[in-house]
Amino acid sequence: MNITLISLFPELIHQAASFGVLGRAIKQQQLVLKCFNPRDFTEDKHRTVDDRPYGGGPGMLMKVEPLYKAIMAAKKVAGSDVRVVYLSPQGQRLNQQMLVNVAATADDLILIAGRYEGIDERIIESLVDEEWSIGDYVISGGEFAALVVVDAVTRLIPGVLGDDESALQDSFMQGLLDYPHYTRPEKINNQSVPEVLLSGDHKAIRRWRLKQALGRTWSRRPDMLDAIRNDASSWDEEKENLLAEYITEFGAALKFKE
Ligand SMILES: C[S@@+](CC[C@H](N)C(=O)[O-])C[C@H]1O[C@@H](n2cnc3c(N)ncnc32)[C@H](O)[C@@H]1O
Repeated sequence: MNITLISLFPELIHQAASFGVLGRAIKQQQLVLKCFNPRDFTEDKHRTVDDRPYGGGPGMLMKVEPLYKAIMAAKKVAGSDVRVVYLSPQGQRLNQQMLVNVAATADDLILIAGRYEGIDERIIESLVDEEWSIGDYVISGGEFAALVVVDAVTRLIPGVLGDDESALQDSFMQGLLDYPHYTRPEKINNQSVPEVLLSGDHKAIRRWRLKQALGRTWSRRPDMLDAIRNDASSWDEEKENLLAEYITEFGAALKFKE
């Protein structure tokens, strides 16, 4: 898959993307990450990339011409029909399903990382297909938001994670939060690993993990639990029973904590 970024800080992108899962995916060419820097498309001696907003007020905007030229250059390389996404706090809030869809189609992307107070509205109207937000807060540059998208999509590309199953078990993939995980040692201070996980009984382990995932979702994300409960293709008697067991065992303690 090819992802092309429009950014004033390509070094930040390449450096951040050189670690871990992302770094490996790039080395193995499962992901091709390119950057176009508007600064390379400036024509003045100061290589200016910001400009004052019409109407006055605080802050600057990204200068239109270099940004426009960088996007056009990226489209020329990536293809004129490649989806152009502007990372913006005003965009559609990202969720796992949106990213699963991107990875499943493996369609290439051009991501625009804004800086300053953002970009000229006419660029959005004429060149941007979608606006995506990483959450209801404001960060100072779209690079971090773009990296979130790049990372989250890349780990869903088949073959990128050592075991494709591991992404499937993650929170949100099946409408539930993930179950708790434990590793060695068996005991730290007075805390032990739940016995069932040491039992070797795969059926019991699967049941315990599903029960924990259901219970966690119930206590932490009731909105998600409602959604999965109302989806007949995802909800069944086993889940209903395990959730009831969880609530009987831990419900009172959790309610007391609140
Ligand atoms: C300081 S922000 C500009 C915020 C803008 N004035 C607003 O309030 O909508 C600069 C850049 O960071 C990026 N950014 C900030 N918050 C974001 C978020 N929650 N999701 C995605 N991108 C974000 C955008 O690319 C934006 O152009």
